[in-house]
This record gives sequence, C-alpha cells and structure tokens, in this order.
Amino acid sequence: MNSGNLIDLRSDTVTQPTPGMLGAMFNARVGDDVFGDDPTIIELETKAARLFKKESGLFCPSGTMTNQIALKAHTQPGDEVICDEGSHIYRYEGGGAAVNSGVSLRLIKGDRGRITAGQVEAEINPDDIHFPVSRLVVIENTSNRGGGSCYSSHNLLDISRLCRQRQLRIHLDGARIFNALAATGTTPSEVGPLFDTISVCLSKGLGAPVGSLLLGDAGFIRKARRIRKVFGGGMRQAGYLAAAGIYALDHHVDRLRDDHKRANQLEKLLHHLPYVKEVMPVETNIIVFRLQDHLSADEFLTKLKQHNLLAIGFGPGTIRMVTHLDFNDDMLRQTMEILGNLQVNR
Ligand SMILES: Cc1ncc(COP(=O)(O)O)c(C=O)c1O
Repeated sequence: MNSGNLIDLRSDTVTQPTPGMLGAMFNARVGDDVFGDDPTIIELETKAARLFKKESGLFCPSGTMTNQIALKAHTQPGDEVICDEGSHIYRYEGGGAAVNSGVSLRLIKGDRGRITAGQVEAEINPDDIHFPVSRLVVIENTSNRGGGSCYSSHNLLDISRLCRQRQLRIHLDGARIFNALAATGTTPSEVGPLFDTISVCLSKGLGAPVGSLLLGDAGFIRKARRIRKVFGGGMRQAGYLAAAGIYALDHHVDRLRDDHKRANQLEKLLHHLPYVKEVMPVETNIIVFRLQDHLSADEFLTKLKQHNLLAIGFGPGTIRMVTHLDFNDDMLRQTMEILGNLQVNR
C-alpha cells in the first residue's frame, strides 16, 4: 500500500526502495549465484561477514529462510532448541522447526522476549535417554513480541559463555540487530563473536526490498548453502537485490536512530491518551500498546484506517506500530494529530 497520504506503520517491511538504492540496483553487476559467480552477492556476503567478524555469509530470500536453515544446519531430528516463548521461530515461521528439522522447542518466559543465562541453564536436559538432546539456543535481538526490546551486552555475554561451556550452539535471530546496536551503542564486531551463527534482515529497518543474510564459519555456510538449495532458495541474478543490501548497509544504518526517536515521541503521546491502558517501554522502532479493556483491536484498527493510518493487531486489545525509513517528521506530526483527536467511545 503506497497510495497518496496513507501512513503505513504496520511494519518496517513496507518501505519502498529509495532513488539511490534503485540506482545501485540498476547498475549492479550480476551473475548466476547458484554457480557461485554473482559478484554483487559475493561482495554483500563478504561485507556482512566481515562486519560481524564471521568467516562467511549466505544471501537468502527471507529472514524466515535464514532462521530455518540455521535450525536445520545446527540440529538433528529429535533435538531440542531453547528459545523465548514469543520468538519468531516459534510463533511466526509456520511450525517450520518441526516441518523442516524435526526438532522440538523448549520455551522460556523471558522479560519482553529476553531470556537469561540462568533461565537457559535451567532448561538444559541432562544426558538421559528419556530427554531430547538440548542442542541450540536462539536469541532474538531486538525482540519483535517484546516490543523491540534489546539485550544488554552482559546478558548476551553470559548466555554465550554458558552455551560454550555446555556445548550448545547459539544462533542470533538478528532480523533487527542493527536497531539493537543503535539503541545500545554497540558494534557488529562486538556482538558477532558471541554467536555461532547470525541472521540479519536487510528488508526491515534497513529498507531493502528483499533479502536476509546468514553468517557463520566457512564450514557452516557450506552446509547452509546446500540446505538453501533444498529449500528452493538458490537464486540466479539476485545481485540486483544484493546491491540494495549493500546500499542499505552503507546508507541506512546510522539513520535508524531517527526511527527510534520518532517511536519514542509516539510512546510519550500514547501514555496520555484515554483509550490506551498500557504502553510497552519503547527501546527501538516498535511500539506496542494495550487498549482499555472494553475496546477491540479490530474496531480500533478500522477507525485508524478511516484516517488513512495503518497499524496491526498484536493479540487481544493490543496494537503494534513500527517506525521506518518511509515515515518522516511530517508523518509523525500527522500521526500524533490523528491519535490525539481519535474519538474512541466503545
Ligand atoms: C524477529 C524476526 N525474525 C525473523 C523474521 C522473518 O523475516 P522474513 O519476513 O524476511 O521472513 C521477522 C519478520 O518480521 C522477525 O520479526
């Protein structure tokens, strides 16, 4: 939806490529990536791997695919994966963990999506034939269901150390890792070494039209490349898409702080609106709020739509809005005006 003065806060995935990005795509040198000779894809994979201090990278169509490849490459059927109960791999990947990898998920109730080393340790199964083998921990940073919450560096370090001590692999679902880095003032090279593998989405806050990267050591990425082919994710002249990713890494990382500031301004306003019961603390670009008990999320969303403002439902009586590259200060003013004047009586 990109019509006229519609303000679309359903997700940071709704952005249109900028003229600069389109120019980079148009001028990309491409080859057949299944034969391994698309120079722009190689450049993107190398660039991202270096940023996060990993040996290799793999360009994939989506963040769901990078997560699913990671699950499959790290595990054997029957293994168990430890993660937060709201994590994307559990709630929003169509049961892919079971379908593709035959693993079970051991769910932890985290603090707005964030789990601790102590919680993980308590869920590691003993070496006993009754229990699945605890194999992998998945950390989501930022946490989508947690309203864009971020892990602190020391929490990540503790979980990473525990995984190393207990021979567990550790994967980062970093669909919005650059938002987390911007909010916590950390660098990719600081977080990269804490994980065995990392999924990074280019098509969320970074504003590329398509694509995610899976990063890890060279042996892991060789295995991942084979699984990507099995999943039907081997693409040919996809360097046009990779060019958008390179452009996004070069031009759209520093500006994430603007998205966070705008999200903070919406948070402040929402606290004062009579139809809002509760607002989750805003740390990055995601705003989640609960309506007063008698209000329905669907009716509220319909009302917003009548004012050309789009958001999404996030559970009973709960709304999510996400700020992004195509949401500017002018739109922020309009959004605040719409929310401030909204008549919500029942
Ligand atoms: C935390 C998280 N991980 C993974 C994904 C999957 O990304 P994709 O939509 O590219 O499959 C999303 C999508 O919103 C997400 O929020």
